[in-house]
Amino acid sequence: MSAHWIEQLPKVELHLHLEGAIPPPALWPLIQKYGGDPAVPSAEAIADRLQFRTFREFLDGWVWKNGFLREYEDFTWIARAVAEDLARQNIVYAEVFCSPPDFALSHGLETQPLLRAARAGLDQVPEVEIALVVDLVRDYGVERAERTLRETAEVRDQGVIGIGIGGSEHRYPPELYRDTYAEARRLGFRTSAHAGEAAGAESIWGAIRALEVDRIGHGTRAEEDPKLLDHLAATGLPIEMCPLSNLRTGTIPAIETHPIRRYFDRGLRVTVNTDDPGMFGNSLAAEYRLLQTTFSFSRAEILTLIENAIDASWADADRKQALRDQLRDRSAL
Ligand code: HPA
Ligand code: ZN
Repeated sequence: MSAHWIEQLPKVELHLHLEGAIPPPALWPLIQKYGGDPAVPSAEAIADRLQFRTFREFLDGWVWKNGFLREYEDFTWIARAVAEDLARQNIVYAEVFCSPPDFALSHGLETQPLLRAARAGLDQVPEVEIALVVDLVRDYGVERAERTLRETAEVRDQGVIGIGIGGSEHRYPPELYRDTYAEARRLGFRTSAHAGEAAGAESIWGAIRALEVDRIGHGTRAEEDPKLLDHLAATGLPIEMCPLSNLRTGTIPAIETHPIRRYFDRGLRVTVNTDDPGMFGNSLAAEYRLLQTTFSFSRAEILTLIENAIDASWADADRKQALRDQLRDRSAL
């Protein structure tokens, strides 16, 4: 099976952070614009700065990089660069997290113009359809999350279809956001929550029971509780898995230990995603190649994973069918 086969397939991404997907050549001009960083003398040195051993170090890198996003036009710039990168990889549909609360206190940026600026950049790349998912970021507390939700609801015409909570899962359990998620549902948003990445199975249960999520972000540690695996298999709740992200942040000790093959074989609705490719140096094709080489996924199984992503997406029924047709046409080549 050639690597080319995966690259040319039309693919779908459901767990990708706009601010974590900035290709280093697009981040470099922003670093220069804001006075540079002596520890990062070139675009090539960005990858060295973004090496992590732990989830904590990953979050440090996240904050460092966000320090170079200070004006609305920076969001137009990165959104265009990210969309172009997705289009180059034959990713045809993506649901992309954007984290306005990270820029509210530090840089005084407001949710609505920030989302408009991001949309302006995405719209410059018609080859890929990108829906936005607003990350309410659990670290800033419920009040800020609810404010961001209300502000987001007023600009949903910017192509915002859902909400999520990223950030420090180990410090802010999902239950804190029960009312916020109820309100998001009432407003008509779809929901996902990062769970089972930096905390264990109880955090996934919390996302299911307290937040009533439509999808689980990561879900890596679900197998700590066999009853949870039974529940996920029985309900078909989609899981946005991110194997190389889990390796890079130290969520798993070695790639061979990643549970994706076990979950797939057990009938969980697994999807494959990159999370923060600008920080991890991965790509969706690289994730699928890894599944072939390390976990012996067949061609048919890889097509199933892409179909899972289409099914688990929040696109409307017609769009999903068009994506399935496109995949079927191209996979026969
Ligand atoms: N986990 C938590 N917060 C994040 C992540 C993640 O994987 N990516 C970007 N912010
Ligand atoms: Zn994530």
